Amino acid sequence: MKIKSQIHLLLFLIQATFVSANNLNEDPGEVYLFAYSTNDGRSGLNLAWSVDKENWHEIGPNHTFLFSDFGSWGSQKRMYNPYLFQDNEGVWHCIWSLNDEVNVFAHAKSKNLYEWKRQSYPQVKDVGNFQEPEVCFDASGENYVISWLSSSGEDSNLEAYQITTTDFKNYSEIKKIASSDRMNERVDIVLNGKAERGLVYKVTWDLVDQLIKHEEWVQFHNIERNENLNDDPERFMDLKPLDANITLQPEKGKKISDLLIGVFFEDINYAADGGLYAELIQNRDFEYQVSDTKFRDTTWTSTKAWSVNPEAIELSIETTSPIHKNNPHYAVLDIKKSGTGLVNEGYDGIPVKQGEKYDVSLFAKNLGDSKQNLLIKIKDVSGKVISETSIKNIGKNWKKHQSVIKVKTTVANAVLEVIPSTTGKLALDMVSLFPQNTFKNRKNGLRADLAQTIADLNPKFVRFPGGCVAHGDGIDNIYKWKNTIGDLEERVPQPNIWRYHQTAGLGYFEYFQFCEDINAEPVPVLAAGVPCQNSSTGGHGQQCGIPMEEMDDYVQDVLDLIEWANGDKNTKWGKVRAKAGHPEPFNLEYVGIGNEDLITDVFEERFTMIFNAVKEKHPEITVIGTVGPFYMGTDYEEGWDLAERLQIPMVDEHYYQTPGWFINNQDFYDSYDRSKSKVYLGEYATHVPNRRMNIQTALCEALYLTSIERNADVVAMTSFAPLLAKKGHTQWTPDLIYFTNTDVNLTVDYYVQQLYGNNSGETYIPSHVKLSNNDKKVKQRVASSVVKDSASGDLIIKLVNVLPVDVNSTINLKDLAVDNQDAILSVLKGEPNDENQKPSVSKVKVSETFDYQMPAYSFSVIRIKS
Ligand code: AHR
Repeated sequence: MKIKSQIHLLLFLIQATFVSANNLNEDPGEVYLFAYSTNDGRSGLNLAWSVDKENWHEIGPNHTFLFSDFGSWGSQKRMYNPYLFQDNEGVWHCIWSLNDEVNVFAHAKSKNLYEWKRQSYPQVKDVGNFQEPEVCFDASGENYVISWLSSSGEDSNLEAYQITTTDFKNYSEIKKIASSDRMNERVDIVLNGKAERGLVYKVTWDLVDQLIKHEEWVQFHNIERNENLNDDPERFMDLKPLDANITLQPEKGKKISDLLIGVFFEDINYAADGGLYAELIQNRDFEYQVSDTKFRDTTWTSTKAWSVNPEAIELSIETTSPIHKNNPHYAVLDIKKSGTGLVNEGYDGIPVKQGEKYDVSLFAKNLGDSKQNLLIKIKDVSGKVISETSIKNIGKNWKKHQSVIKVKTTVANAVLEVIPSTTGKLALDMVSLFPQNTFKNRKNGLRADLAQTIADLNPKFVRFPGGCVAHGDGIDNIYKWKNTIGDLEERVPQPNIWRYHQTAGLGYFEYFQFCEDINAEPVPVLAAGVPCQNSSTGGHGQQCGIPMEEMDDYVQDVLDLIEWANGDKNTKWGKVRAKAGHPEPFNLEYVGIGNEDLITDVFEERFTMIFNAVKEKHPEITVIGTVGPFYMGTDYEEGWDLAERLQIPMVDEHYYQTPGWFINNQDFYDSYDRSKSKVYLGEYATHVPNRRMNIQTALCEALYLTSIERNADVVAMTSFAPLLAKKGHTQWTPDLIYFTNTDVNLTVDYYVQQLYGNNSGETYIPSHVKLSNNDKKVKQRVASSVVKDSASGDLIIKLVNVLPVDVNSTINLKDLAVDNQDAILSVLKGEPNDENQKPSVSKVKVSETFDYQMPAYSFSVIRIKS
């Protein structure tokens, strides 16, 4: 991986004919380098250089040489007062302050000032914040002395402190020092008319020259990334329809992954509660808290989605004697006047269908003296009763009551009302309205149409429960699988990182059951003992990590999951699975550990513990590691280094990129080392500025996937992300499938996934497209991929044309035993901005050599029956 970026850099340097020496006639030998940060720390490390300390040249300008990864997006990720220091080996260290509040600083090192190793955020105990750091050697020349100013002093004057370290990992006790003992080297330099505060160093011109070249390479790379495909009609204005000759090399066929196309399910955009999970009552457990939303939505309380007629009923929320400690809040109705009840509005209303049956259930406790019965009504918006049922004899103790309602009229936005028969006090909790018609009729199951839409992708695996949801917003929010199994009232609801509520009704049992129902491998992802690096809660610092004294328990949780999924029904956790209704093992083979984490020492320590424990106890399980959120950079490099050191069988890569990136990086995996870890491309999507999906994004993905199939000996799995989004409740766009309570809207990108999912194969046959035009930009936009499906013996040809003209191709299938036979042709095509196209399917005749016209802007799949 590293090799690949270095090759790119080298090629660029060879090609680069411009600037670099910045009008210098001769090598000045030594120059001055100015290190600073600007824009209230958001710029990260900026650099400028000068020959004479008078005339300064910004590199970039404003190029970020090192980005501070501490804290949540938006308010954090800032670098103040960067201080560079070169050690005896010539390695550069950068330390910087993060903000005025935390007693934490940041450190990273680099051999060249542009490729940085992992960051660490040591905590400076006992004294307040950490400002204006400086580093130098002590008298022995062996210890680094770090000093800083802190405004924690009693009179809030700045006080100076220092610590020493030899390795930037272990630190001495803090010592108070006099301010005058510091070097106080920072100066103000005017750049572009603005004074910037920073430090000046004397360095070789060679170093600065490399920095300038690196920045130029980044610009060049960005030109490719930002190649605007909307310019294509003009760019290719004079292009006439092309001819193509497509030849195959069956003798060079290779085995490829049989799990290539899967799905990634995350509870984002109301994908779970209010989405795939079929429950129709919102806030059934009365566990919503304003804190779920970070106090942004003051209506997000235990009574959210519930209402009463205040003249008849006083509604309060109590916690004194709940059904279960994991579900502490419940509703208490003080009924002054009978006849009305507690109303739930569902998620954007409750959709019900004529003729279908719904299970009603609730926990109730009669706190009054009179006999209490309940009438349950489903009403439309005008108040008209659609259907009703009753529950009799509410006792003095919590008890689950159940009934069934058969609905008489289809209504998109009904409400449910629970009406007590008499006055007095009544406690209610876990009020549920659940369609019996769930996917595969599972109890506590999934919304049938949405689950079927996912099944129709024919995914070979399902990754769950996230994404960022898996590692959570701070340690306390890490997703714990054990909290999501068992009786619903005993599961532990919690806010998710997308700042709404997870009932955990859709929990691990339901995920595994769904995988089995659609014949997909379950791929659970567990946090690597660290929360999301963009967490905004959880005390000081990023990657604070589960305390080491709690890690053994956490590791045991991971091992227990494997026993729960695969163990015999007589094992401790196998018994729990069997009790839930699944005595047979689920045959778990893959476990993801970590999700695009910041690769730090804290991460590595915890990941390694988990990885080693799973490897030792369950060598049959393939652990999927993580290499950060981008296709390059520190986490990617460090993640891959760790994968190599630990011999992690597979790593999870993520990248959301521009159409230009996907067009220009079809060779991304060609140079991957086949002897190293396999790749799971766990999250990717083409992002255009308006964040919509259209034929252009769909075709970029189709094109890129031809290169993935070519490399499916090293790329074992892929999943587009995110999968689901409820209209009006999105935290992230674009998504593959949009839905409302009653509709499912498929994007054009969905059809690309579906065509790949339904037309995968396990043997890849190299193919070559010889175009009648040699222009690089033209050639990049036409691709083919040919696979053979061993189960059916079918030969499958995928052809992508992202050009505004047709490509008249002649396909030569010599040596593949194809002779005048039927094939199924599926074609997805349209104008680049079209969002509503669907593939057309037809029957065609093919022979050993046949002609096929790839329409302009199209993805064609020709499936030749064996
Ligand atoms: O897919 C949406 C989010 O993108 C995921 O939660 C996270 O892993 C990534 O940043």
